[in-house]
Amino acid sequence: MRIFLIGFMGSGKTTWGRLISEKMGLPFFDLDEIIEKRVDLKINDIFETKGEDYFRKLEAVCLRELHEKKDFILACGGGTPCFYDNMMVMNSLGSTVWLNTPKQVMATRLLQESGHRPLIRSLSPLKLQEYIDDKLEERLQFYQQATMIVDPTLSSPDELIHQLQHA
Ligand code: S3P
Repeated sequence: MRIFLIGFMGSGKTTWGRLISEKMGLPFFDLDEIIEKRVDLKINDIFETKGEDYFRKLEAVCLRELHEKKDFILACGGGTPCFYDNMMVMNSLGSTVWLNTPKQVMATRLLQESGHRPLIRSLSPLKLQEYIDDKLEERLQFYQQATMIVDPTLSSPDELIHQLQHA
């Protein structure tokens, strides 16, 4: 089973991904980590030295290479579904789960941990709120193509596993 966790930065993809992978006994991968290993650079440095376009191409390539694996949980980056045909690729390979976390929850998390996220690291709290509002609106059309939608504040990893196993 291939499960792709998608959602905005700070929605909880990595935390949920690790929990679900342990409970289901499936390997866990984080797309940002795969990308970092591939070029031996941190995400911040990729954005700074090579630019976002380069990052998005690399992201699309690394995502497609996962077709060789049959079973995994993948935590995508927040922008992964929104570039190239990534959403279509993921939906054709397996199930996509959108972690539709309330904006305020994500904003609180992102205020505390924006350092390693190039798109928001230099934003003031007010600008961050605006950024989340604007970007989320722009990205909804992609996130909404997910096969399953979960609000992590109202559901649990066990419930999601149940849904995945009975889909
Ligand atoms: C991005 C989200 C990040 C990372 C990169 C770009 C985005 O992943 O891929 O900084 O465009 O939203 P996380 O969602 O894991 O922070």
